[in-house]
Amino acid sequence: MIAKNILDIKNISIKYGEQAPAVENVSMTVKNKEIVGIVGESGSGKSTIIRAVLGLLPAGAAVSSGNIIFKNEDILNYSERKWREIRGNRMAVIFQDSGGFLTPVKKVGNQFVETIRSHFHISKKEAFDKAVFMIKKMDMADAAAVMNSYPFQLSGGMKQRVAIAMAMVMKPELLLADEPTSALDVTVQAQVVRQMAELRKNFNTSIVLVTHNLGVAAYMCDKIGVMQEGRLVEWGTKDQVINNPRNKYTMELLSAVPELEGCDFGGKEAAYTGD
Ligand SMILES: Nc1ncnc2c1ncn2[C@@H]1O[C@H](COP(=O)(O)OP(=O)(O)OP(=O)(O)O)[C@@H](O)[C@H]1O
Ligand SMILES: [Mg+2]
Repeated sequence: MIAKNILDIKNISIKYGEQAPAVENVSMTVKNKEIVGIVGESGSGKSTIIRAVLGLLPAGAAVSSGNIIFKNEDILNYSERKWREIRGNRMAVIFQDSGGFLTPVKKVGNQFVETIRSHFHISKKEAFDKAVFMIKKMDMADAAAVMNSYPFQLSGGMKQRVAIAMAMVMKPELLLADEPTSALDVTVQAQVVRQMAELRKNFNTSIVLVTHNLGVAAYMCDKIGVMQEGRLVEWGTKDQVINNPRNKYTMELLSAVPELEGCDFGGKEAAYTGD
C-alpha cells in the first residue's frame, strides 16, 4: 500500500524524566513531497519532536503516549537496529551547525565520498561524481574547488550547504531540518532556504523544517504548525496560518515579522535567481 502521509504524528506527549511534559498531545501530518514548518518560541518543544521522530531522545526521555507513523509503520516500536537503518537512509537530518561536524583535517571531497560509500556499494569515482552533482545542485558552481577544500577554507554557509548536500545525496524520503539556517547571515540564509525548496522539487523529499523565522516558513512551507509551551496551538496551510491565524500567539508572532512579503526570502512565487 502506498502511504499518502509520509509521517503521521498522533497525539504524542514527550517527557524528560519526571518533568512536566515538554510536548503535550501534539498531532501533525506530513504528506509526500510536502514541506511542513514548525515555528514557536524557544523551549516550546520543536526540537524535542524532531528528536522523537529520529529516535534520538536522550536517556531518560520518552514518548509517554501517542504514535509516530512513518510510512504506515509505528516507529516507536522500532528496534535500535531498525532506527539506524532508516536514519541517514530514508530519513535525514540537518541541524543548525551540521557544517561544523565536518572533520577539519580531511578534505571535503574525501569526507563526502566516504559518506556516500558507507551507504552505497559504488566505486570512488562514482561516489565522487555523485558528490559533485549534489554540490552543484546546492548552487556551488565550482564543485571541484569545494571538494578540494578543507572545511576551514569554506564559509559557514558553504559548509552548511555541503552538509545539506551530504544529507540529500541519500535521497531521503524525509528530511528533518532543525534551524538549518539560523547560524548563517541573512543573505546566505535566503540562498540556503531557496536551495532546500529546490531540493524538494528535484528529489520529491518531504521536509519538516523547524525555524524561529516565520518569514522562512512563509516562503518555504506548505503547512505551518505553531508551538507554544509544548502544545501545537496553530496548524494549517501556509495561507491559513499567515493570512487568517486563529491563535493569539500566532498573531503576535506575525506582527513581529517586519515584512513578510518583501522579506529577503521573496514572495510566495519568488523566482530562483541562483545568486
Ligand atoms: N535534554 C533535556 N533534558 C531535560 N529537559 C530538556 C532537555 N532538552 C529539552 N528539554 C526541555 O524540553 C522543553 C522543550 O525543549 P526543546 O529543545 O524541544 O525546545 P525548542 O522549541 O527546540 O527550543 P529552541 O527554539 O530554543 O531550540 C524545554 O522546556 C527544555 O527545557
Ligand atoms: Mg530547538
